[in-house]
Amino acid sequence: MSGVATDMFIRPMRRDDVPAVERLTSEGFYDLDLRTRRTGRPEPSRRTDEKAANWRRRMEHILVHDAAGCWVAEDGSGLIGVSVGLKRDLTWILSTFVVRPGEQGHGVGKQLLDASLTYGSGCLRGMVIASHDPKAARRYRLAGFTLHPVMLLTGKVSRDLLPVVERVREGSAGDIDLMNSVDRQVRDSAHGVDHEILASMYPLVVVDRPTGSGYAYVEPGGGPYLLAATNRRTATDLLWETVAASSPDEPCTIAAISPENEWAVDVGMAAKMELDSAGYLALRGMKPPAPYIPSGHFL
Ligand SMILES: CC(C)(COP(=O)(O)OP(=O)(O)OC[C@H]1O[C@@H](n2cnc3c(N)ncnc32)[C@H](O)[C@@H]1OP(=O)(O)O)[C@@H](O)C(=O)NCCC(=O)NCCS
Repeated sequence: MSGVATDMFIRPMRRDDVPAVERLTSEGFYDLDLRTRRTGRPEPSRRTDEKAANWRRRMEHILVHDAAGCWVAEDGSGLIGVSVGLKRDLTWILSTFVVRPGEQGHGVGKQLLDASLTYGSGCLRGMVIASHDPKAARRYRLAGFTLHPVMLLTGKVSRDLLPVVERVREGSAGDIDLMNSVDRQVRDSAHGVDHEILASMYPLVVVDRPTGSGYAYVEPGGGPYLLAATNRRTATDLLWETVAASSPDEPCTIAAISPENEWAVDVGMAAKMELDSAGYLALRGMKPPAPYIPSGHFL
C-alpha cells in the first residue's frame, strides 16, 4: 500500500462543502457500480438533478443535527473523501463514506471513519449499510462490526400481481410519535428529527391498528425508502403498498433485506422480482432489526 498524500488533511465538513460532497459521493458510487457490475444488469446511472438536490437537502439536515459526525478529507486538488455519522438515541449510524476513485486504498478512509466513529463513542449500538466494496467491509469489520450479508430485489411489477391491501392509510407529520414508537420497538432507537425531513420529502403510508402498527416512506419510483413495523403481517401490507406505487414499465427496488426479513423476500417472490445479494448490514451491539427495511442515509 502506498502512503497518504503528504498534503492530505481531515477537517469537519462545512455547509459550503455540501455541493462538492454530493458530487464526490455520486462519482464514488458510480465508479463502484462500474467496477463491480455483473453481466445482464442495467447500466448504472449517475444521480439525476432531482436526486442530487434531495441528497444535498438530506446532507444539510444531518449537518444541522450532527455536525461533529461529518468529516471531509482534502488535499491540494480539493475534497477527496467524506464520512458522515449520526447519533439517534444511543445508536450510531454511518450515513455516507466515500473516497475519490484513484485515492482509495491509501488510508484516507480509515482516518475519516475513525473521526466519525469518535463522534459515536458513547453509543451502545452501531449500524451501517455496507457496499460490496471489500475495502469498506474490511474497514467495518476492523472497527468491530458484524457483517450480515443482505439481499436486493428488483423488477417491473405487473399490476395483476398486486394484492388488495386494506389496512394502510396515507401518513403525515402527525404520525411522527407513532413512527418513533415503532422505531424503538424494532431497533431500540427512534429516527427522531429525521422523520421531520423524511415526512416532507417522501410519500408516507401508515398502519395504526390494535393488532399491529408500522410505516413506510415510498421512493419516488415505488418501493420502500424506509419501512418499520411491529409484526410481519403489517410490514407485508406496507411493502405491497410501496411496490404498488411503482410503474409497471419501470423497475422497482427493495434493498438491504437481511435474512431476518424473509417476509420481504416473499413479497418479492410473489411480485416476480429478481433476487440478488448486495453487500452487508454491518452492526455493532445489536441484531438485524425486523420487520425492517433500512434507509441508506438514516438507516
Ligand atoms: C470504502 C472506502 C470509503 C474506504 O476508503 P479507503 O481510503 O479506500 O480506505 P483505506 O485505504 O483506509 O482502507 C482500505 C483497506 O482495504 C485494503 N484493501 C485495498 N484494496 C483491497 C481489496 N481489493 N480487497 C480487500 N482489501 C483491500 C487496504 O489495504 C486497507 O486496509 P489496511 O488499512 O488494513 O491496509 C473507499 O474505498 C470507497 O470510496 N469505496 C467505494 C465507495 C464505497 O463502497 N463506500 C462505502 C459505502 S458503505
